[in-house]
Order: sequence, then structure tokens, then C-alpha cells
Amino acid sequence: MEFASQLAGRGSNLVLVARRADRLESLAEKLRSEYGISVTTVAIDLSQPAPGEILLSQLVDREITVTSVINNAGFGMWGKFLESDPNRLRTMMALNVTAVMDISRAFLPLLQLRGGGYLINITSLAAYSSIPMQGAYSATKAFVLSFTEALWAETRGSGVRVLAFAPGVTTTEFFDVLQVDDSAASAGRAQSPKQVVDTALSILDRRDPPPSWVSGHLNHLIAVLPRYLTRRRAVLLTGRTTMRNITTAQSEAIPARSEKIRQALGLDLTSSGRQHVIDITTTGAKSGRPRRIEIWFHHYDGRWFLSGTPGPKSWYANLLKNPDFTFHLKHGIHADLPATARPIVEAEERRAIFARMVEVYNLPKNPARVPQPVRVEDLLTGSPLVEISFASI
Ligand SMILES: NC(=O)c1ccc[n+]([C@@H]2O[C@H](COP(=O)([O-])OP(=O)(O)OC[C@H]3O[C@@H](n4cnc5c(N)ncnc54)[C@H](OP(=O)(O)O)[C@@H]3O)[C@@H](O)[C@H]2O)c1
Repeated sequence: MEFASQLAGRGSNLVLVARRADRLESLAEKLRSEYGISVTTVAIDLSQPAPGEILLSQLVDREITVTSVINNAGFGMWGKFLESDPNRLRTMMALNVTAVMDISRAFLPLLQLRGGGYLINITSLAAYSSIPMQGAYSATKAFVLSFTEALWAETRGSGVRVLAFAPGVTTTEFFDVLQVDDSAASAGRAQSPKQVVDTALSILDRRDPPPSWVSGHLNHLIAVLPRYLTRRRAVLLTGRTTMRNITTAQSEAIPARSEKIRQALGLDLTSSGRQHVIDITTTGAKSGRPRRIEIWFHHYDGRWFLSGTPGPKSWYANLLKNPDFTFHLKHGIHADLPATARPIVEAEERRAIFARMVEVYNLPKNPARVPQPVRVEDLLTGSPLVEISFASI
């Protein structure tokens, strides 16, 4: 967001890319009205295969010429590697590593053809050390650092500025996604997004920018420290710090976070339409690929459900084939919860659940924005209905 705002302030037209279309569009609207620039939004999941080609073809279809690229999307994971969710590890690799490489591969030739612009790949202070409890994440960022520095050298003289930019702890939603409390993790050295983006753009404005840069003086020192230690000593020292931070963060953050998740899942008749909105990632029944869509969920008496208007639904077909899916909370808190779906096909059980659902659909404030009244009979035949079990909440 901060990159977008500062570049808009410099008069650049923008293409904003992320998964949540609603958030992209509201940021785009704000930037258009504040800065009078043109903003295009592309809501896609960059962890899917070939994100560079997909993005490029969407922009070509819309006749948009890209003059610079910032690969910013990424997320972290922490905790013991052997206790980490393998699916999430794969998604992190796909987003933090493959997407950065793929988008660079797709767009850099265009920038070179124009002989200008820049490619910023966001790495991290974590790239400069091997970090126990964040081993896979720090390795993804080490890839970005090494890959981008090499690109910097390969593209010298082409007119394109290539930069690996490494923020340290920064106060963003990163820590919601990471599931750790940033106050504990940062130990007082967090930077604001403004400080980070100010630094990145000022480095890029130099006549001959370096291949990489670490944001913040203290972070700089932390990044160079391992060079003066043996690798054994460096990893043990880093491990002592992260394990202490994480243990503190774990004890403080997890109860607070679990409580927020419980609140977000605890819908009742006073909940707004937005509170019902989540994303789910199912596995494509035919393709076997992850399929992420936005959908409503329902909650009655400690049980959770997904449903929809009558008719075939691909998400339902996917869940019939493979009931395991990810339930993405995105209101109040961001959380990716592993879940399993049980299709509800028995008429009496369906009737009882749809009776509760229509109560919500028919509320005077019409949170679902559907033509009212909705009757149980409208849903009974042909509406998909599944009960959700969460692996842990
Ligand atoms: N914050 C820190 O302390 C810190 C420190 C060092 C490095 N970094 C790096 O800085 C970068 C930005 O992180 P941040 O702190 O700004 O985190 P953030 O607030 O969580 O933002 C991440 C952004 O990436 C988008 N995104 C996430 N998954 C995506 C996917 N699969 N496809 C498309 N877009 C996706 C998110 O939007 P949607 O959820 O709508 O898709 C969001 O706009 C990351 O690469 C991170 O590793 C952050």
C-alpha cells in the first residue's frame, strides 16, 4: 500500500495486484481521487503456477504497458519446520520464490526493450542469516537476494535499475499472517512502511543504485554481522534470539490471536455481510490445482457451513472430490485455517440448517443483499450445503 501511495504521489499510473479484490479496489479508488492517476487492479493469486505469464497476458489484454515492477507480495512462517503445514510451506515457496522469478522473467524483457524503469524485488533482513524457526522463510528471501543481485549485474547498461530491497521488521499485516505479535518480535526496532518505502525509493533515485539495500541503520548492522562470525556461531546466535522472541511472542500472541479467530468465526444475527465473507481454497476436481474463491460462511450453535444459490457450483464439486480445503478469514483478522467439508444431503438435516440460514437472508438490513424473502424451499432443492470441521481452533 505504501509503495502504491508514494508512487501515486510521484504521478505514476499503477497496476495493483493482490488476491483481495475489494481491498485493491478501495485503495485504487482512493489513489485515483487523491492523485488523479489511472489505477488498474488485478485480483489474482500469485502462488498459482506461471503467475508472470498470467499477469502479463491480462495486462496485454487491457492494453497496459508496464514500465516498472515491484515484487512485494510475500508471507512468512515461523515455528519448527517439522511442525509446519506442508501445504503452506509449498504456497510460501510458490509466492516468495517462484512468483518473484516468474514475474521478473515475464516483465524484465519489456523493461529492457524500453531501456528504462526498475524492478524491485522485496527480500528481507531474514535473507542475510539462516534463521532457526523461520528456516524456510529466510531461505526464500535468501533466494530473492541472490537472484536479484545476479540480475542487477546481468542487466547493467540496459537502462533498467534492478534492486533487491530488504526491510527489517516493519509494522504491516505481515505479523497477522505470520501469526506472531510484532511488538515482541521487533524488540523495539520496527520501522514504519513509510520509512521503508522512503528508503527504497531514495536508493532507486541514485544515479547508480547498488544491487541490494537493507532498510534502516540497525538492520544494516544486523545484516553484516554474520560475515564476521563462523556459520556455526552465526546460526546458533540467531537461533538463540529468534527462539527467545518467538517464545515470548507465542505466549503473548497466540491466546490473543486465537481469541480474534474465535470472534471472527462466531457469527450471529447481528453480524454484517462483510463478516460472513471469507475465501476458500479448494482443490480443482478436474485440474487438481488450488482454486480460491470468495464465499459466505454461516455459523449456528457452534457449527459452521458453506452454501450457495441452487445450481452446480465448482467449489462444491471440488469439495466432493477432495473435502480438505483452506478457510481464509479476512475480516477482523487474517488467518488460513485448514478445514474439511462434509456434504449435507439428508433432507431433514438440510431443512433444519436452511431454516437458520433464511433467518439471516431475511433480516431487514438484508446483509446478503439477496431478493427477499428467501424461503427454505428455494434452497432445499439444488443448493449445495456442507458442514465445516476445522483442524484446530
Ligand atoms: N513486515 C515485515 O516486517 C517484513 C520484513 C521483511 C520483509 N517483508 C517482506 O515485505 C513484503 C511485503 O510484506 P508486508 O509486510 O507488506 O506484508 P502484508 O501487509 O501481509 O502484505 C502482503 C501483501 O501481499 C499480498 N499477497 C499475499 N499473498 C498473495 C498471493 N498469494 N497472491 C497475490 N498477492 C498476495 C497481500 O494481499 P492479499 O492478501 O489481498 O493477496 C498483501 O497486499 C513481503 O515480501 C515480506 O516478506 C516484510
